[in-house]
Amino acid sequence: MNDMTPTSAERAVKLEGMGCKRKRVEDIRFTQGKGNYVDDIKLPGMLYGDFNRSPHAHARIKKIDTAKASAVPGVVAVITAETLKTVNLAWMPTLAGDVQMVLADGKVLFQNQEVAFVIAETREAAADGADLVEVDYEPLPVNVDPMKAMTVGAPMIREDLKDKTEGAHGKRKHYNHIFSWQSGDKAAADAAFAKADVTIREMISYPRVHPCPLETCQCVASFDKIKGELTLYGTFQAPHVIRTVGSLISKIPEHKIHVIAPDIGGGFGNKVGAYSGYICSIVASIVTGVPIKWTESRIDNLSTTAFARDFHMDMELAATKDGKVTGLRCYTIADHGAFDACANATKWPAGLFSIISGSYDFPAAHCLVDGVYTNKAPGGVAYRCSFRVTEAAYAIERAMDIMAQKLGMDCAEFRMKNLIRREQFPYTSAFGWQYDSGDYQTALTKAMESVNYKKLREEQKAKRDAFRRGETRELMGIGVSFFTEIVGAGPSRACDILGIAMFDSAEIRIHPTGSGICRLGTKSQGQGHETTYAQIIASELGIAADNIMIEEGNTDTAPYGLGTYGSRSTPVSGAATAMACRKIKAKAQMIAAYMLEVHDDDLEWDVDRFRVRGNPERFKTMTELAWAAYHEVPPGMEPGLEAINYYDPPNFTFPFGAYIGVVDVDVDTGQIKVRRFYALDDCGTRINPMIIEGQIHGGLTEAFAIAMGQEIHYDDDGNVTTASFMDYFLPTAVETPHWETDWTTTPSPHHPIGAKGVGESPNVGGVPCFSNAVNDAFAFLSSTHIQMPHDNWRTWTAAEKLGLHG
Ligand code: CDP
Repeated sequence: MNDMTPTSAERAVKLEGMGCKRKRVEDIRFTQGKGNYVDDIKLPGMLYGDFNRSPHAHARIKKIDTAKASAVPGVVAVITAETLKTVNLAWMPTLAGDVQMVLADGKVLFQNQEVAFVIAETREAAADGADLVEVDYEPLPVNVDPMKAMTVGAPMIREDLKDKTEGAHGKRKHYNHIFSWQSGDKAAADAAFAKADVTIREMISYPRVHPCPLETCQCVASFDKIKGELTLYGTFQAPHVIRTVGSLISKIPEHKIHVIAPDIGGGFGNKVGAYSGYICSIVASIVTGVPIKWTESRIDNLSTTAFARDFHMDMELAATKDGKVTGLRCYTIADHGAFDACANATKWPAGLFSIISGSYDFPAAHCLVDGVYTNKAPGGVAYRCSFRVTEAAYAIERAMDIMAQKLGMDCAEFRMKNLIRREQFPYTSAFGWQYDSGDYQTALTKAMESVNYKKLREEQKAKRDAFRRGETRELMGIGVSFFTEIVGAGPSRACDILGIAMFDSAEIRIHPTGSGICRLGTKSQGQGHETTYAQIIASELGIAADNIMIEEGNTDTAPYGLGTYGSRSTPVSGAATAMACRKIKAKAQMIAAYMLEVHDDDLEWDVDRFRVRGNPERFKTMTELAWAAYHEVPPGMEPGLEAINYYDPPNFTFPFGAYIGVVDVDVDTGQIKVRRFYALDDCGTRINPMIIEGQIHGGLTEAFAIAMGQEIHYDDDGNVTTASFMDYFLPTAVETPHWETDWTTTPSPHHPIGAKGVGESPNVGGVPCFSNAVNDAFAFLSSTHIQMPHDNWRTWTAAEKLGLHG
C-alpha cells in the first residue's frame, strides 16, 4: 500500500452510505419539472371521466336522468349504479371488511358522494356533462355528530345493514354501530381508579382532518380487449394491494393487471385505499375500449377521499398525590363516516390506538373504541401516522398535562417521573405491546437543556405577573410532548390487509460491471426512497450509492409488497434491502474465497472488499466480484449476483421524541405566534440525516397546520364547509415557524440495521406539543381543556370565556 491508496474510511465516505447527508437523487428531475406524474400520462385515444356528485348529505334518489348530460358535445357515455350492476360492480369491498357504493345506489349518504360518471373527449366536456346529470332527490334527516349516532331515533345511515347484528368485527349494538374493540385489563384499570389519590377526566376530541396531498388522487385505466389485460396508472401508495383488490373486484386475473404508480406528489395516507374513480375508470375503459383518465379536483379530494382522525376520546388518568400514574381508561367514539373504509390491518379496527399509554410506565390500562356511521365521507386513514397512533399520542399527551396541572406539578417533571426507564427495555406495556428500545430520560433531559426549560418557565412566570398587572395583553405558553410511535406494520402474526400478511420485499441485481438495481414493494411519495435505499445497499455491499438504481411502483417488476404508509418503508423494506444485500454478500464471499484460494472464513469484510485476514494486500473488491459472478464462479455455483428478500419483521419499531414549543397568545385577537419549536427525534440508526431533517420539517408543518387550523367541518345539514384551500388551512412558508431539530440514537435491537421509521413522528408528536403550548398559556387561569384547532376565533373565544376581554 502506498500513501496514495485510499484508507478504509476514505473509501467509505465515497460510497455515500448510511449516515451520509446524500443529496436527494430524485430532486434532479423534480426541480427541473421533469417528474412523471399521472397527469403527465397521455395515451392515444384517451377519454376523461368526471363525477356528478350529490349536493345532499342524505337523500333518497328517486330518478336519475342522463339525457341532457349525454347530449353535451364530446360526451361519450354516462355510467350510473344501474350500469355498474350489470357487471356486478355497483358496490365494492373496503379494506376494513365493509362494502361501499361505487356510485350511489338508491340513496346518497354524504355530500359530494359519487352519483354518475360521465366520460368525454375532454376534461371540460366531462365536467359539463356531470353538471347536467339530473337527479331527483328526496332529502332525509342528516346526522354528522358521532356522539348522536347511536341514540334512539338517529337517522339510519346504512339501510343495507339494517338487519345485520354482526359486522366484520363482531356484534353491532345499534344500526349505526360498526364495531366495538377493546384492549387492556378493565378490572385492573377500574381497581387503580378506585384506589387513586387524584383522577382526571376530559373529553379530548381530535377533529376530522384531511391529508390533502398537493397532487390529488388520479388514475388512467387502459383495458386491452385483445389481450384481456388492464394497465392501471395511478397515485397508489400500495400498488400491489391495488392489483390484488382490483383483481378480486373486477375478476380480471391478477397476472393480467399491470399497476404502475409513477411519481407521486404526496400521499400521507390519502392514496392507500380503492376509490370509485378507479373502479369507474376501469369499467369505462372496458366499455369504451380506450384509456380513461380520472382526475380528482381539490374539492373532491377534501370532501370525498380518505379523511383522517375524527376520534372523540373520553380520557381518564389515575395517580398518586406525589405524581405517579397508576391507571388509564379511555372510551372513544370513532366516526368512520358512511362506509367503514378505514385503512387498518384486519385485526385492528381501531388501528394501533392501544399505544395510548404512550411513553409511560402505567401498571393498569384499558381502552374501548366504538366505531359509528354518520353522514360524512368514508376513509379513516393514517394521515402521516401509523394507524391511529396520532390520536393516541394526542390523548395521552393532553391528559398528562391536565393531570400535572391538577397535581400542581411541572408537566416536564411529571413526565420524567412516569417515563419508562432505560433499563426496562424491552418493555411490555399494559396493552401488551413490546417496546423494542428507548432511552427516554436522556432524550427529555437533552430537550429541556437545549431550550433552557428552567429559564423559559421563569420568563413565563414574569410574563404572567406582567399580564396580571395589566402591562401586557400577551400570554406565553410552553408545550411539552413526549411521544412513542409504533411503526413498521408489521409482523405478519399481528397484521394483514384482506388476509395478505404485512411483510415487504426487496430484490437486488448486481450487474457484471458492479452497478445494480433494487426493486421494492414500497412506493415513495416524496420521502426520498431512491436516495436512501441506495445508501443502505452502499453500506452493506460496498457499491457506491450512485451506482444503484432504485425502482418502485411497477407490479410487473417489483416483488410483492404492501406499500408505503405508516412509516413502514424503513422498518420493513429497509430491513428487506439489508437482508437481500447479505445474501449477495455471502455469495460474493464464496467467489472471493475461490479466487483468492483461501477458505471463506479466512476472509474479512472491509468497506467494499473481502480481504485475507492478516494479509490485507490480498483482496477482491465488490466490483471485481460482480464481474467474476458472471464469468468465473466456483465449480457448481450458479452464475449471477442477485437476491430477493421478503421480510416479515419480528416486531414493530418504536421511535420516540421529545418536543418543546413556545407560543405567545394575544388574548385580544386570539392570534398565536410560535416563538420557538424544538424537536428531538430518535429513529434508531439514521440512514440520511438530511432527509430525516426534511421529513421532520414537513411533518412539523403538518402538525402546526392541524393544531392551529385544520378541520373538515360539516354544518348540521351535512354540508362540508371546508372543502377548499380558501377554508381549509394549508400553511405556506409565510405562516410556517422555524424548526430546531435534534436527535438521539437508540437502535432497534431486532432490525438488521437498527433503523426505526421517522416520517410520521413529527406529526404524531407535534400536534400535542402545539396544543399543550396553547392550553399552557391559559393554564394559570383555568383548568378547562381548549379543543383543537387553535385558530384565532377559538383562542379568542377561550379568552372571552375566561373574562379576559373586560
Ligand atoms: O414509509 P415512509 O417512507 O413514509 O417512512 P420512513 O420509513 O420513516 O422513511 C422516510 C424517509 O426517511 C426515507 O427516505 C427513509 O429512508 C428516511 N429514514 C432515514 O434516513 N433513517 C431512518 N432511521 C428512518 C427513515
